[in-house]
Amino acid sequence: MNQTAPRSPFDLSGRTALITGSTRGIGFALAQGLGRAGAHIVVNGRQQAAVDEAVARLAAEGIGASGAVFDVAQEASVAAGFAALDAAGREIDILINNAGIQHRKPMLELELADWQRVLDTNLTAAFLVGREAARRMVARGRGGKIINIGSLTSQAARATVAPYTVAKGGIKMLSRAMAAEWADKGIQANSIGPGYILTDMNQALVDNPEFDAWVKASNPTRRWGKPEELAGTAVYLASSASDYVNGQIIYVDGGWLSVL
Ligand SMILES: NC(=O)c1ccc[n+]([C@@H]2O[C@H](COP(=O)([O-])OP(=O)(O)OC[C@H]3O[C@@H](n4cnc5c(N)ncnc54)[C@H](OP(=O)(O)O)[C@@H]3O)[C@@H](O)[C@H]2O)c1
Repeated sequence: MNQTAPRSPFDLSGRTALITGSTRGIGFALAQGLGRAGAHIVVNGRQQAAVDEAVARLAAEGIGASGAVFDVAQEASVAAGFAALDAAGREIDILINNAGIQHRKPMLELELADWQRVLDTNLTAAFLVGREAARRMVARGRGGKIINIGSLTSQAARATVAPYTVAKGGIKMLSRAMAAEWADKGIQANSIGPGYILTDMNQALVDNPEFDAWVKASNPTRRWGKPEELAGTAVYLASSASDYVNGQIIYVDGGWLSVL
């Protein structure tokens, strides 16, 4: 018998994945998940030291990884980041637009500069990075995968986080706009909507007993999510298992949005 086992549709061997904001939190967990499925990981963040440390942590568990330091919210920085990837011969097959920030303030007190900063980092950045990645995917003719990280606020609003809510609602529709324009180029663009996940972004909320109790009472799973619980959905959407899935959002929220 000289048979080769068929390749699993979830196998990412030979693919390269750029994950923005992957120095810590959800981005790092997604890097581990895609790396364990075989992908080479390009770690991104704004600080060289944090990027180097994340690359080293991935390499220590046998994952092929390299770094790309750029600010996703600055057009020139994104262009320079992709120019450096081109020069290094890194071809991005999978992009996860994950970098994001939060700013909590009632709308009556919200400054325009903070509104703009949250929109720039959480929404416009996904367009800027997605455009650079897709230009190269289209030129190479092999298609690709784009995953945009949304939120429960892609679906439902909550007081004090208006710009974040607007940005994450926009992320859901950006994935659909990408699908509409690029599906016939072999690109699938989908969103993941995480529930409340234990990361640095939420530390103040975890430390607030009232908020912590609200999360546990509202969610039918009765607990916060863990970053690694998003990895399986990301591997699926990054792999050929999802080649006919386009423009969708998958909520990974412990069932939160399914209940009253
Ligand atoms: N945690 C949750 O409960 C939750 C729920 C739903 C959705 N999300 C979304 O999931 C994503 C990750 O959240 P997280 O909780 O893991 O956040 P986090 O722990 O605060 O990590 C954010 C990451 O983004 C990077 N980053 C921020 N601004 C950047 C910029 N302008 N350019 C490049 N990188 C930038 C940070 O690195 P540097 O600061 O070093 O650049 C860091 O690596 C975000 O889009 C967030 O909105 C989170």
